[in-house]
Amino acid sequence: MTEEQIKHLSQVLKLDLSAYHPQQLQRLITAFMQRNDFPNLDILISALRSNPKLRQHLLDNLGINITQFFRDPQIWDILAKEILPDLLKEFKSLRVWSAGCSIGKEPYSLAALLYHLAPQGAHTIIATDIDEAALNHAKKGEYPADDMKEIPPIYRPLFTVQNGLIVVPPTLRKFVQFRRLDLLSDPYPQGIHLLVCRNLLIYFRPEVKPRIFHSFAQSLLKGGVLFLGASEVLLNPSAYGFEPLQFGFYRRV
Ligand SMILES: C[S@@+](CC[C@H](N)C(=O)[O-])C[C@H]1O[C@@H](n2cnc3c(N)ncnc32)[C@H](O)[C@@H]1O
Repeated sequence: MTEEQIKHLSQVLKLDLSAYHPQQLQRLITAFMQRNDFPNLDILISALRSNPKLRQHLLDNLGINITQFFRDPQIWDILAKEILPDLLKEFKSLRVWSAGCSIGKEPYSLAALLYHLAPQGAHTIIATDIDEAALNHAKKGEYPADDMKEIPPIYRPLFTVQNGLIVVPPTLRKFVQFRRLDLLSDPYPQGIHLLVCRNLLIYFRPEVKPRIFHSFAQSLLKGGVLFLGASEVLLNPSAYGFEPLQFGFYRRV
């Protein structure tokens, strides 16, 4: 994939692909072309110009929306037993940001925790993603009933099952606001107590990460917590105004 092709693809997708990991991008696009019978990238790019559905389809594939309720449950256990109780002692109602929320399982897991720990709080969970299709699914709040196994037993009664689907009930939905936000170009929400950005930064080139971590630090209030994915580490947290807490958690100092 040449730089020129990445530039054209970025224009047609309205997405800054130069920030993404080149090998990973190449692998995802090659797999997409093979699955959809495009013989080369230039033909794909010209098809994308006139076909918004194909554009959306490719975006869905690039984002790799893989997600789960309570992904990495041992770490969510630390969130439930230590991080959130500490935050709730200091701030009665929490403003949480789930950045790269995919189809909504992450913000609804956060909603379940907050409902469980502090149901009276006027919490807000801002759930953002670049992918409109994922956000539309998220807003619907319906998932195969089989996904209930991802939810730890203690929280299962907070979700409803209807006609073979998990349906997120209004008690949890009321906390969550979905909106489209490109982490590479849009302004970030401010005044955040807990910033959850998991399994997204791994797609970005190392060079773009410092800018993102600086902006995360600005989004968070003092004492607020950044929660990263299990394979993401913030090297040199003090350079951004963070101190390490537990594995995967960093406090804004
Ligand atoms: C692998 S999913 C992770 C979902 C969830 N955070 C989790 O850990 O289960 C990564 C998400 O990041 C989103 N994404 C990719 N690039 C993005 C960008 N530039 N801005 C915002 N979201 C982006 C994708 O659309 C996708 O939904």
